[in-house]
Amino acid sequence: VTTCESWDVGVASRYPERSDTTAAPNAAVLNGFRAALREAQLYVGATAPNPPVGCAILDADGEILAVAAHQCAGSAHAEAAALALCAERGVLDRAVTAVVTLEPCNHVGRTPPCTHALLGSPIRSVWIGCADPNGHVPGGGAAYLAAEGMQVAWLEQLSPDMTEPLLTLCQALIVPFTHHMQTGLAWITVKQALTMQGEMIPPVGHTVFTSEKALTHAHRIRRATDAIVTGVGTVLADNPGFDVRRVPDHAGRAARPLVVCARRGGIPEDWMRRAETRGFTPCVCGDVADVAQMLGEQGVLWAMVEAGPALLQTIRAQALWDEWLTIRQMPDGTEQVTRVVRVPGVAALSVLDEIEGAA
Ligand SMILES: NC(=O)c1ccc[n+]([C@@H]2O[C@H](COP(=O)([O-])OP(=O)(O)OC[C@H]3O[C@@H](n4cnc5c(N)ncnc54)[C@H](OP(=O)(O)O)[C@@H]3O)[C@@H](O)[C@H]2O)c1
Repeated sequence: VTTCESWDVGVASRYPERSDTTAAPNAAVLNGFRAALREAQLYVGATAPNPPVGCAILDADGEILAVAAHQCAGSAHAEAAALALCAERGVLDRAVTAVVTLEPCNHVGRTPPCTHALLGSPIRSVWIGCADPNGHVPGGGAAYLAAEGMQVAWLEQLSPDMTEPLLTLCQALIVPFTHHMQTGLAWITVKQALTMQGEMIPPVGHTVFTSEKALTHAHRIRRATDAIVTGVGTVLADNPGFDVRRVPDHAGRAARPLVVCARRGGIPEDWMRRAETRGFTPCVCGDVADVAQMLGEQGVLWAMVEAGPALLQTIRAQALWDEWLTIRQMPDGTEQVTRVVRVPGVAALSVLDEIEGAA
């Protein structure tokens, strides 16, 4: 993985003054956003506690020279990774516009500020999807870039009918991160499958009743989330694995927390041990009301609940969820999928369902 360090050349640029900007055309900028979103989406579930971010670098004609994403905490931020790709390809001198899904950071974390990476490159204009919601560090990446002579523009400045879906997707990409920044809590998505009769319990001898498509979707959500939450009833009834099997998981991903809610214990020790071998850090939680806070403190941005009716009833009654996905069997053999966000706004799941289609 390329690190940011190679681009930490300080603010002084070896490139000419920025007044001669030839920015990429608007249609090309929108293409850049689509490419950046697609790339960033590949790493949703691998970047926590950082947000997923994508960046496309364009030349003066709007040709995309490189697209990159932030891949995991400690690795290069999207802007630095995309610039490094341009250098590797020998096209860095043609780079004039950077298109980023999230405002470039302006602080030193595990890697140097992205603003410095951009200012130390030939980039003359930066297009930004959404503002950095990180209130804990001095932000203002956009303002800093502008003060240093960079042309800075926001996606929302383009005609709304063209940009609205892309803007929503830029926001959806960081919904769990924004929520975590604002509340300290992990974003909680509940996944619930219902039979035609509205039951959650599979027929005797089965552990699932949904279609292959729905099962694969569930594994995509597992891949995108940073933790799983379940109840002891589900563990005892189904001996579930909870690992990502139907799609490839992120390579080299750190262990995911796996929270088993139980007030009286009773979770088989060998199940807990086997969960560790499947890439989890299992733990028991005696009060489901503590889960979002506990996971948030561990740097989990997004958790999925896969539990039975008893735990879901409490989660619903106490409003401990942010997004609720229901997959209901229909009489004609199809499935009806509904997605509800508790506080109306952007859904985190849009990232999985819509980026590929819209972007
Ligand atoms: N259709 C679906 O989407 C779906 C998904 C998962 C599972 N299931 C099915 O659901 C069935 C199991 O259902 P279930 O209701 O028995 O299991 P569950 O909801 O997974 O777990 C129930 C347990 O959660 C614990 N719990 C409840 N409220 C709690 C709270 N406030 N704080 C901490 N822990 C709390 C309780 O443990 P204590 O008893 O120790 O208090 C309770 O026994 C299985 O047949 C499984 O196949 C269906």
